[in-house]
Amino acid sequence: MEPVNVREYEALAQARMDPAAWDYYRSGAEDEVTVRANCDGFARIRLRPRMLVDVTSCDTRTTVVGTPVSMPILIAPTAYHCLACEDGECATARAAGAADTLMVASTLATRNIEAIAAAATGPLWFQLYVYRDRAVSESLVRRAEAAGYRALVLTVDTPRLGRRERDIRNAFSLPPHLGMANFTSEDDLTMVHFQGTGKSALAAHVAALFDTSLTWEALSWLRSITTLPVLVKGVLTGEDAELAIQHGAAGILVSNHGGRQLDGALASIEALPEVVEAVNGRCEVYLDGGIRRGTDVLKALALGARAVLVGRPILWGLGANGEAGARHVLELLRAELELAMALAGRPRLAEIDRSLVKMLPN
Ligand code: FNR
Ligand code: LAC
Repeated sequence: MEPVNVREYEALAQARMDPAAWDYYRSGAEDEVTVRANCDGFARIRLRPRMLVDVTSCDTRTTVVGTPVSMPILIAPTAYHCLACEDGECATARAAGAADTLMVASTLATRNIEAIAAAATGPLWFQLYVYRDRAVSESLVRRAEAAGYRALVLTVDTPRLGRRERDIRNAFSLPPHLGMANFTSEDDLTMVHFQGTGKSALAAHVAALFDTSLTWEALSWLRSITTLPVLVKGVLTGEDAELAIQHGAAGILVSNHGGRQLDGALASIEALPEVVEAVNGRCEVYLDGGIRRGTDVLKALALGARAVLVGRPILWGLGANGEAGARHVLELLRAELELAMALAGRPRLAEIDRSLVKMLPN
């Protein structure tokens, strides 16, 4: 039988995938406290539904940094989709287009910028990592611009890679037939990645090549080399939200990288209110981390998110059933959100506000 919810896709993907690849997808940093907190955080929020509202039609359409999408549920950037299914990121891009929503493609994709754009039937944003050699990142930006990506998402929570112990134990690396498709061998990047290091090859790649000295200046630099809007991904505090705005962010993505970076960091949904308060309407605020149900989406919107992004659930759909699985995951989340809007008496996104939620005491 076809899975009826996102968690059933998780179980199916686990059963079908290579164990080390599965560990890479599921893992978080160290004790995985923040991985669990991302989901638990939603359970600590209760909904205050209103009754006797006409909910004959519930409208989930919105815009994200000016781009129309059919629902406030987007695809977060995640690396290595070819570990889940053969077409990898190209399958994901088609699933996003079929669901009339937006995909953020990762710097560390296993299909390149141009191939993903060629497969896509919907809008794309490009997630950027800043390399010590800025020319590497600048060239990625130029390619994303040329291929028609509509915004850049600068990930700021990864000056070094979090300690994912499953990957260390597995000495995880991509299988030989796959590579970081955005880099050619002349860049010498995939070579670093493939070296038998006896530890996580991704950790070795990040340690060798990412810029550990990155500061807010990088956002100013990025804005100076592109006219695309730049969103900042990985903000968890009001202080950093303020700095992101001062440096010209077009949007802020509240995220702890799915619990894969600083273990013990705030759950995304816990951090959202202070970011929304600090931003005070000056730019759009997004959230990712732990979204598994339509009611999770509703809670994030009530606390001020413009839209949410999903990471692992898409990988589960891909791992279970390729493009059709990823598409079905999106449709399940859409249907759940739409039903939750109806049962909460909020048929329009604009009516989803703070009055819809009550935080339980800790
Ligand atoms: C990620 N994430 C991520 N983020 C990013 O900016 N660039 C990347 O390449 C990746 N790669 C990546 C791989 C895998 C396997 C995972 C699980 C996550 C983080 C991602 O964008 C997002 O923040 C989280 O996945 C959101 O949490 P959920 O939805 O997975 O709970
Ligand atoms: C990760 C990096 C690639 O979380 O963002 O695995």
